[in-house]
Amino acid sequence: MIRPRMRRSKERVLVVGGAGYIGSHVTLHLQRMGLAVAVADNLSTGRAEAVAALQQPGKREPSFFLTDVLSPARLEKTFAAFKPTTVVHLAGLKHVGQSFKDPDAYWRSNVGGLKNVLDALDAAECRRIIFSSSAAVYGEPRYLPLDEDHPTAPQSPYAETKLACEALLREWSGRSFENRQENRAVVLRYFNPVGYDPYLAFAPHIHEERAPALADAILDVACRRLLALTIFGTDYQTEDGTCLRDFVHVADVAAAHAGCIEFMGRGRDRFSIYNLGSGRGVTVLNFVRTFERISNFRVPLHFLPRRKGDIARSWADISKVRREMGWEPKLQIEEICQTIGQLCPEPLIPRSANVDCQPTIWQPWGAVNAQ
Ligand SMILES: NC(=O)c1ccc[n+]([C@@H]2O[C@H](COP(=O)([O-])OP(=O)(O)OC[C@H]3O[C@@H](n4cnc5c(N)ncnc54)[C@H](O)[C@@H]3O)[C@@H](O)[C@H]2O)c1
Repeated sequence: MIRPRMRRSKERVLVVGGAGYIGSHVTLHLQRMGLAVAVADNLSTGRAEAVAALQQPGKREPSFFLTDVLSPARLEKTFAAFKPTTVVHLAGLKHVGQSFKDPDAYWRSNVGGLKNVLDALDAAECRRIIFSSSAAVYGEPRYLPLDEDHPTAPQSPYAETKLACEALLREWSGRSFENRQENRAVVLRYFNPVGYDPYLAFAPHIHEERAPALADAILDVACRRLLALTIFGTDYQTEDGTCLRDFVHVADVAAAHAGCIEFMGRGRDRFSIYNLGSGRGVTVLNFVRTFERISNFRVPLHFLPRRKGDIARSWADISKVRREMGWEPKLQIEEICQTIGQLCPEPLIPRSANVDCQPTIWQPWGAVNAQ
């Protein structure tokens, strides 16, 4: 998929939200391809360690701009200093549960933030943007697997903001300029990115208000930062009663962004939407059992009733991204679980151990949150 000419590219990519989980993997991938990359981030949930790791001497260093997307002045300075040709926009708030508690913050950050970023693109005459959307925009599936034509029916303020962002991008990409340059936008609807690149292997942030992703939570349990993994719902219509999701390795997700940059360079459609998943559904319990088998360690489980808003089954039809961009997920669930196990700094809990898994250290968190 990545042609050699990408390596000699004049592309300058600004990764907004590049200190975060997915953004740091995207930055690393683009950096490894030899592209000029910069990170703009306010470090609210992003990791300073990731920024430091990406700036290791001997590599082509990404510049770092401490920038808040809610500050147009800061954005303008960042764009003027770096002069990007493409922007990857991942910054924002991402927790479904939290979005019910404070929807205004989600509209401000996600939609207001994107508006400011688009104004900065216009001011800097940067014409290309790749945007991180979410499978959450589909809501309850009417059929499976979910393709990009599936009707959207957001079920949370978080998902509503993602859909509003997509509409903004559709409108923005319709604009042309006097010099006949056209705006181009690619929307990527991520399913469930998991795993890590060993180079960016840091302990995930634990925050009482936020629901960690499944991989982070397994890692927390395996490393004894949490006593047990909470699974919500055991009576769904799936093989083992737990929710079924489409887990895709974050390194594969990162590689898709490079594909998008090349795709936009070829002058294809001005506005496109792609699903990014593995194209396979795996239940949460199956994921945990695979981790246990691969690592030979046991994950104590704590089962709770279904949680409001969680859908039973969701997985992606990825034929469009395959066909149009040549992107293919390379890492299977076993390899994803391997990358999680490799991160644990201390000995894991042996599979045979009898662990009392009653209390969790903090509650609630979402093993199966559709983000
Ligand atoms: N992780 C997932 O499972 C998942 C699934 C679907 C979609 N997404 C979307 O992908 C994007 C990235 O997700 P992630 O998991 O890497 O999240 P993350 O929280 O790790 O990364 C978000 C980054 O944006 C930065 N940021 C937040 N608000 C900002 C602001 N106002 N100004 C500047 N920087 C700001 C944070 O510091 C962080 O570095 C999000 O938009 C999320 O909605 C994530």
